[in-house]
Amino acid sequence: MAFPVTRMRRLRSSKAMREFVHETDLDASRLLLPLFVSETLGEGEREPVESMPGVERLSIGGAVAEARSAKQLGLAGVLLFGLPAHKDGRGSSAWDDEGVVQLASTAIKQAEPELLLVTDVCLCEYTDHGHCGVLDAGGRVLNDETLELLAWTAVSHARAGADIVAPSDMMDGRVGVLRAALDDEQLADTAILAYSAKFASAFYGPFREAAGSAPSFGDRRGYQLEVGNGRQALREALLDADEGADMLMVKPALAYGDLIGALAASCDLPLAAYNVSGEYAMVRHAALAGALDERATVLEILTSLRRAGADVIITYHAKDAARWLQERA
Ligand code: PBG
Repeated sequence: MAFPVTRMRRLRSSKAMREFVHETDLDASRLLLPLFVSETLGEGEREPVESMPGVERLSIGGAVAEARSAKQLGLAGVLLFGLPAHKDGRGSSAWDDEGVVQLASTAIKQAEPELLLVTDVCLCEYTDHGHCGVLDAGGRVLNDETLELLAWTAVSHARAGADIVAPSDMMDGRVGVLRAALDDEQLADTAILAYSAKFASAFYGPFREAAGSAPSFGDRRGYQLEVGNGRQALREALLDADEGADMLMVKPALAYGDLIGALAASCDLPLAAYNVSGEYAMVRHAALAGALDERATVLEILTSLRRAGADVIITYHAKDAARWLQERA
């Protein structure tokens, strides 16, 4: 039945009516806050990330303080990235049991045992060449040789207290290798959140400034997905599910809503969307310039990712969003 019998505005006619029929919930318990933990910062020191106003590199103590406030605000958890003092060709600080992510993990788990502790598993922050795996003589990233190093890293993070390890390297076979290594080490309860559909994106620019992880030559197109390849992204994600991933991720988020929708429809695993550094920077800089209402824009973006099919969202806006959601309630 069309107009005038059907009138869509009837369902929008009052606040009570709008709330009654609203379809998508957004709650702080759906959000993960990424943190950059630096080995070279002294206790109490914080360093602003220029391209991401409001985001700072933290000491281990600073990361614990952020974890505390994440818990107080009702966020699901934190996602740790490490900035090591030492880099080398293989990224050996990544699997150092006394490494910065490991020490931060232990400290955060002790301070906030109920907060979900997620760690990013990759080598690019730890290698002197900035690529996500080890290289052959010609500068190509070696897949199978990298897998073992990733497995050592994941096991080391899990031993230090990570509830979830999140491989972001995009090597083939990493999820299966990580699962087997964790199980071998009696870490069967550690979950794997696979960065499955991770694209070679310009939106990671500010992150690479924050983490000092830009590749020193070339780019990541030999391992990350090409922007236009949606079918390949779905294949990649379903392979991660087959290998034993507990959760999948689409990254970046805003220009990839079609894939969030497609994966939510085609796979039953919980799905994460990563609202990445460049997406945060766009909103923050526009808001600081007075061009956007930050609060309304952020809540709109996060709601739209939930509507597209994301169960959880990783976002640098997490603390602000949690505060705004409390005010709205
Ligand atoms: C590490 C990694 C990156 C991001 C998450 N893990 C950078 C990259 O792949 O170059 C990007 C996160 C962001 O932009 O917020 N491989």
